[in-house]
Amino acid sequence: MDLKMIKEKIEEIFSDARHEIENIKDAADLESWKVKYLGRKGMLNKVFSILPGLAIEAKKEAGLLLNDVKRKLGEIYEANREVDSQGKKKINLSFPGKNASLGRLHPISVTIREMSDIFTKLGFGVATGPEVETSYYNFEALNIPEGHPARDAWDTFYIDESAKILLRPHTSPVQIRLMEKKSPPLRIVAVGKCFRRDAVDATHSPVFHQMEGFMVDHNINFAHLKGVLTHFINQMFGENVKVKFTPSYFPFTEPSAELSMSCIICKGKGCPTCKNSGFIEVLGCGMIHPQVFRNVGYDPEKYSGFAFGMGIERLAIIKFGITDIRYFYQNDIKFINQFI
Ligand code: PHE
Repeated sequence: MDLKMIKEKIEEIFSDARHEIENIKDAADLESWKVKYLGRKGMLNKVFSILPGLAIEAKKEAGLLLNDVKRKLGEIYEANREVDSQGKKKINLSFPGKNASLGRLHPISVTIREMSDIFTKLGFGVATGPEVETSYYNFEALNIPEGHPARDAWDTFYIDESAKILLRPHTSPVQIRLMEKKSPPLRIVAVGKCFRRDAVDATHSPVFHQMEGFMVDHNINFAHLKGVLTHFINQMFGENVKVKFTPSYFPFTEPSAELSMSCIICKGKGCPTCKNSGFIEVLGCGMIHPQVFRNVGYDPEKYSGFAFGMGIERLAIIKFGITDIRYFYQNDIKFINQFI
């Protein structure tokens, strides 16, 4: 055998040995592997035995290579031994592998799913609508005519010169779109992004999420509104949470109310989150205005209904005790991974 062949042989032994060790199942297998490659009559020693017949230079080179492979296989052997509690040598096949990391839901998605679950169990469907809206669906159809001061509350980003197309500042236009397409009875919640001309701070973001909901049928009254929303808050935040309805104003509902819930942080005693009032405002609601019904072609003498709208970030902030709305949008994995 010449030097070239000997080198190839050594490489081949090395690669076979590394390949074989992958399939080893127990300590006995490991020992046979050792005998086969590193044993007195093993593969490497067989090559060692032909070295004396070589020329001095070739002998040196082959010797170095053989010793190198022997050392490496010895290390591989050691790395595959583990001492168990009884002091027996074994291969630890239960050593944990590398986990592929699974993605998680964003806390806003977690909150949306939880909210939707509560409403779907009450028979509500879940819908979405366009984020780029027309002024008609966003204002006029909701009983907010041009020039009406209530427009200020929903002033937003217009995307055309004539101010007819805009980024929706609330999900209420979805109500109109759905009522135009369907006839009562209706029970629907609509979820999605909304946009307002708000400067960013700990409680405001120009892009945020809302859930809108409404129910229309014969003889729907304020008691239904109270029942559904109280049930929702108790499911979401616990049976001990109290709700309070305070008169309010929205052009598309009459009468209108704000729902406040007892602060879950201080249990109603007063703290910075509830501004010492013991209650936190969570949503706007009311009985759908007869003009809104007329705008979609429903007879307000025949049908009645209630509607509500709430900020999803706000609910998530209360639920998870988050101190700054900006955390939701920073994509910081350490923050996002805390919510299942
Ligand atoms: N659209 C209102 C808002 O964004 C909330 C609301 C919805 C109020 C439905 C009453 C009825 O503030």
